[in-house]
Amino acid sequence: MNTKIQPISDGIGQEIINLDNVNILELDKEQIVSLFKSDGILLFRRFDVDTDTFKEFTNLLSIDFRNYAGGAFSRRVINGDQTLLSVNDFKSEIKLHGEMYYQQNIPLMLWFFCANTPLADGETTVCDGRQFFNEISSSTKELFNKKKLKFTVSISKEEWQKKYQTDNLNTLKEICQKNNTHLIVNDDQSILIEYICPAIIPSRCGKYQVFINSLLPTKQLSSKILKFEDNSEIPEEVVFELNEIAEKITTEISWQKGDILMIDNTRILHGRRAFADDQRDIYIRLCSPAFSF
Ligand SMILES: [Fe+2]
Repeated sequence: MNTKIQPISDGIGQEIINLDNVNILELDKEQIVSLFKSDGILLFRRFDVDTDTFKEFTNLLSIDFRNYAGGAFSRRVINGDQTLLSVNDFKSEIKLHGEMYYQQNIPLMLWFFCANTPLADGETTVCDGRQFFNEISSSTKELFNKKKLKFTVSISKEEWQKKYQTDNLNTLKEICQKNNTHLIVNDDQSILIEYICPAIIPSRCGKYQVFINSLLPTKQLSSKILKFEDNSEIPEEVVFELNEIAEKITTEISWQKGDILMIDNTRILHGRRAFADDQRDIYIRLCSPAFSF
């Protein structure tokens, strides 16, 4: 087929570029799966893709599409489909992270779609969590080995009902239980939730260590909710070190209209640069691969 395949940038991902009117729905699925397994991130570029084609294409390769219940940001539902969400409800920078790593039940896979390009800036940032791990100093690795991360969040009744998309306390208890999240319900039905997880996890194949978590954006946006599990603070110099590494190994995706990004959320971290215009429209789908990986 008339496509070109090349690395997205030095050392990360593969870009599948349409050279001559190839229908994205007719790409060789096995080849995509094999590239995804080896590289963890694929960019499909210059195909003729609208929102419906994006959904159709992602339906070919993924299952278990989910809504954003439990998510940390507010996301706009597109065309009434709870599994198709806009990522654009605010414009500031978001540092590199694994999606929804503040709870146990993470989506294994993510899709991004560029419905409209920003006028300027607003690149999506990505890096490989295996490379991130390799760059971390041995003292910091040791610290993360010894101490897990702890997210502690107070949420009002109105807020949790919106966040978890239920007003039933028993449903909330079930969700928290499934997510290994400790839940305290106060008299006024406001809640306190606590979730503990490692900063570094083994890769799915077991051969590598992967630095993937929600540490950097949490420290950036709501620092107080994140500590180590023993309630000690994550040292500022550690956060500084991690931010330096992140900047050094980041690859920026400068969106072109119709671009599709396929991401292994157990390995590849993502974030975005700030932007200023109202044009940028990037959609996301959260799901699992329809193949073993
Ligand atoms: Fe994200």
